[in-house]
Amino acid sequence: MPRETAEEAVKIKVADYPRIVVPPPGPRAKRVIARDKEWTSTSYIKEYPLVIAGGSGAMVEDVDGNRYIDWMAGIAVSSTGYNHPKVVAAIREAAGKFLHICGTDFYYEPMADLCERLGKLAPGKGKYRVFLTNSGTEALDGAIKLARYHTKRPGLIAFEGAFHGRTYGAMSVTCSKVHQRAGFGPFLPGVTHLPFDNPYRVPFDPAQVKRLFSSVLPPNEVAAVIMEPIQGEGGYVFPRPEFLKFWRKVCDEQRRKA
Ligand SMILES: Cc1ncc(COP(=O)(O)O)c(C=O)c1O
Repeated sequence: MPRETAEEAVKIKVADYPRIVVPPPGPRAKRVIARDKEWTSTSYIKEYPLVIAGGSGAMVEDVDGNRYIDWMAGIAVSSTGYNHPKVVAAIREAAGKFLHICGTDFYYEPMADLCERLGKLAPGKGKYRVFLTNSGTEALDGAIKLARYHTKRPGLIAFEGAFHGRTYGAMSVTCSKVHQRAGFGPFLPGVTHLPFDNPYRVPFDPAQVKRLFSSVLPPNEVAAVIMEPIQGEGGYVFPRPEFLKFWRKVCDEQRRKA
């Protein structure tokens, strides 16, 4: 079966997908799945038996030539698609200069440029500095460290249904599926999990937070409130705007008292 290179695939017309040429998973896919099952860690849970050979924009082609529209987008974080020509060109150019850098040891102009740009883009009034990480879970762990270091407080508030990542800090604030934590404890101390606002199931009750702060958790011992503004793994839950405003207010009040 003819197969396009990644660059040729960019030119595939919208009419070329979706298309099914063999019922999935096809024979090649089955062989890859069998080898994967034998050799890769069982920590890689899989959603379904799609074996992707390459992508173009929002389209993916499997190893048997089936083509699909990808609604996952790198779990909703890769909005430029598989191989946006500008992104590919930038990566090629960078790789020609650096296959590795030591940002903790030396200076690099592109790193200063990127951090300046991100710092200026960040919302809010502050002057920001930027710390680059390889993954979401490292960003979470870094944020927890920074919040505790800066506030000199130990407490962390997180929410039921939340997923924050797979390293220990992020796992400690995660409260999604028990098998993600089973067998890995103990976790970071000082974490309190509270209900998220789910307008269709259990709407958030501010009185519960007031009770918490007056009975068991001194609010001035809380370093951070860690929240997905829209929960993903928890079921794509959109909280009501009052919920986000409530927590913004709590944080601002406690910051002023610090
Ligand atoms: C809401 C949320 N936060 C954090 C993470 C962790 O990000 P990463 O997988 O890049 O470590 C994920 C990953 O699935 C996530 O869904």
